[in-house]
Formats: sequence, structure tokens, C-alpha cells
Amino acid sequence: MGSIGVFDSGVGGLSTLHAIRQAYPDEHLMYVADSGHAPYGDQAASAVIARAQAITHFLLDAPCKAIVVACNTASVVALPALRAMTSVPIIGMEPAIKPATLATRTGVVGVLATTRTVQSESVQRLIAQFGGSVRVMLQAAPGLVERVEQGYLADEHTRDLLTHYLTPLLAAGIDQLVLGCTHYYFLRPLITSIVGGGVTVVEPAEAIARQLGARSNLIAGGRVLEASAAAALQTPHAVTGGFAFYSSANDLPQAERILSQLWGDGLAGRLQQLPV
Ligand code: DGL
Repeated sequence: MGSIGVFDSGVGGLSTLHAIRQAYPDEHLMYVADSGHAPYGDQAASAVIARAQAITHFLLDAPCKAIVVACNTASVVALPALRAMTSVPIIGMEPAIKPATLATRTGVVGVLATTRTVQSESVQRLIAQFGGSVRVMLQAAPGLVERVEQGYLADEHTRDLLTHYLTPLLAAGIDQLVLGCTHYYFLRPLITSIVGGGVTVVEPAEAIARQLGARSNLIAGGRVLEASAAAALQTPHAVTGGFAFYSSANDLPQAERILSQLWGDGLAGRLQQLPV
């Protein structure tokens, strides 16, 4: 037994949580929003690793039988350190560069992500591995995580920021836009309205739902999940269901309002202070 733990620097990972809930309705899920320490993407790798380790300790103590790092930034810098802590499966995510490079017709792919993710070795490795003759344009997008954390998903300032980041990518002729940060999922309607119908927006939440729903051993943007992890996630006799939500935000009522806005059902009165 045990829960499935899911964490992010804040509310972005709710998109992944939703996909997991769809696929595993009987599992007990724990979600940690580390909003008191967001954004991760503007911090030193060592600071992100320290937070990811503290949250992983908390989830392991719960106990959790699998942990999903629903944050590209934490995944690209902290996964080896987290996996060294435990034999419990730790599932990470990385920008969906591979499917985008396979799908492009213009030969130009845009990746919108945090500064830390854009500068990571993982992303360089993905480009080296799958880029081929495709031009992969990396665009760091500081400020967007904060807009989502504050619940500003469609206002003028958020639109201006997005327009600023997307204009060079559009000018270069992208036809695939990879959302390399789970927070950006919640900006998708605005992003789509800016990039128009000629650009496919690629993000992993639906792929996770598909793969988990099929009880496959693939998860998180095409990433291969070890067989043990796939087995651990499948507990056909468990009927526990349910959620526990934790946040490190200083203003818990405000955090609960934003989480409720994004999660969309019965979170009221259920958000607990993260003790780490
Ligand atoms: N949702 C996180 C990601 O996927 C945001 C990181 C941040 O806090 O900057 O990268």
C-alpha cells in the first residue's frame, strides 16, 4: 500500500495530478505545491535539489510507493539525487522535444521553459539525441510561473509576457511549441490564441494520461518508466482513492483559492501546511 506522491514548485503539477487521477481513480494521491519556494527555475541548481530532497523525504515518510516529480525544472536538475535516496520509483519529466522534432514540418521547434531547464544538460542531451536537422529554439520565460501561481491566467500582463517570449519563435517559423514547464499548461488557451492554429502546442499531461490509462510502462512525455515503477503504480485491489494536498505557501487561504481554481473540485478546507 502507500500513496502516489506528486510534487511541483507550485500549482503546475496539478495538470499531471489530474492525468494520474484519471488513470488511477482508486489510488490515494498526495500533492505537494512548494509555492513558498517558487519559482525553482530562477534559482541555483543546489537550491532546487535541496527542496526536492526535503519534499521527497516527506513523501517517503507518508509513505508513498511512487513519487512523480511533476516539474521539469526539478526533474532536470534533481532526479539523480532523488533516486539515490530511495528504491521507491521516482518518475520525472522532461520537455517533449522528441515528439515535437518528429512532428515538425517546418523544421523549427520552439521550447518554452524556465531558465534553469533551458540551461540544463538534460535539454542539451535531448536536442543532441533527437534534434537532427531540426532547429530547436529554446526560450526561457521568467515571470510566467509567478503569473500562474497568482492565478493570472488570461489578463493583459500575462498576454504581454507570452507575446514577448513567443514572437521570436513565431518569426523563426515554428510549427511545434513544447511547453517545458508544467505551469504553462494552465496558460494553454492564451498561448493558443497567440500562436494560432498553425502551431501545435505539445505538453505531456495528455501523454501521461494515455500511457498511465493504458497501464503501459511509459510515462511523462515519452520517458521510459522502469517496469518496477509501472508495477508499483498498479494496485488493482486498492480502493482507497482520495487526496491529500500540501502547500508551503505563506498565505495558505490564498493558496487554497488558487489551487481550487485550477483543480476545480472540492479542495476547500483540505489544504494543509507542508511541514518541510
Ligand atoms: N512547474 C515547474 C516546471 O515544470 C516550474 C518551475 C519553477 O518553479 O520555475 O518546470
